[in-house]
Amino acid sequence: MAHPVLELVDVDHVYPDGGTGLRGCTLALGRGRRHALLGANGAGKSTVLRHLNGLLRPGAGQLRSDGQPVDGSRAALAALRRRVGLVFQDPERQLFAAHVGEDVSFGPLNLGLDAATVAARVDAALDAVGLHGYAGRAVHHLSFGQKKRVCIAGVLAMEPEVLLLDEPMAGLDAPMQVDLAALLDRLAARGVTVLLTTHDVDFAFGWADDIHLLAAGRCIASAPAERLAARADLLHTAGHRVPLAIALHAQLAARGVLPAIPAPRSVPALLEALQADLATSSAISNILESTE
Ligand SMILES: Nc1ncnc2c1ncn2[C@@H]1O[C@H](COP(=O)(O)OP(=O)(O)O)[C@@H](O)[C@H]1O
Ligand SMILES: [Mg+2]
Repeated sequence: MAHPVLELVDVDHVYPDGGTGLRGCTLALGRGRRHALLGANGAGKSTVLRHLNGLLRPGAGQLRSDGQPVDGSRAALAALRRRVGLVFQDPERQLFAAHVGEDVSFGPLNLGLDAATVAARVDAALDAVGLHGYAGRAVHHLSFGQKKRVCIAGVLAMEPEVLLLDEPMAGLDAPMQVDLAALLDRLAARGVTVLLTTHDVDFAFGWADDIHLLAAGRCIASAPAERLAARADLLHTAGHRVPLAIALHAQLAARGVLPAIPAPRSVPALLEALQADLATSSAISNILESTE
């Protein structure tokens, strides 16, 4: 079997003030999949992301890339960060340039690419986040959502193999969330491995292929979303409830309205199943009426 693109193996992290970030955390990211990392506040989600791109180093345990341990050498960490892009939760912490184009071009310029390639990458990245024509804009005049998109563009311009996003949906309005999810889907379809953290259990189960549940600095479960969706016990330990679509479906299945399997993973998918079911039953009653 192919190695996970990135893997934390039994990682401990203690912050300088003595606070525990991670405790025996083991988590593997399958290549090209959409991963969601769920957990209560303080569970260690942001700490996991910082380990996966080498910003933090394990106090104990190991980071592996394609099955190989990543040592702490400058060269190894620089190579890792070229392949693994991290979008911080707070755009103010990520943006540093006065203008959008300058900010987005910083990464590719640092890769030593020629000016034409950098310009093409900046254009493509701004297009991808819906900010075509924004290169000359002043960063400090942008809205929160636009700043967030500039951050994402800056990471996309590096053409990372793995894209890590810390609470990317927080603070975005609903249409922007839909656009961002669609962008992440396109990236994953092209083979980019995407991992995001979120508080939104409904979004996570509707969107992700794989779910990782974090509680008190360790990963208590990692599995395809359909296998964890109804695990109220594990979800509760990680500070979450069962997704709404799953809870509704369980009630409808118990009343015989919908079959027990398959369980739709999002409310729109549940509505579709209901609609299909209504269409089927009205088609059947039409047939019955016409044969009477
Ligand atoms: N810079 C830091 N210094 C000290 N403790 C920290 C720091 N960042 C996080 N922690 C602690 O590490 C634990 C995990 O934090 P974090 O990874 O930010 O969790 P999450 O992203 O899931 O909310 C928490 O107990 C938090 O207080
Ligand atoms: Mg966090």
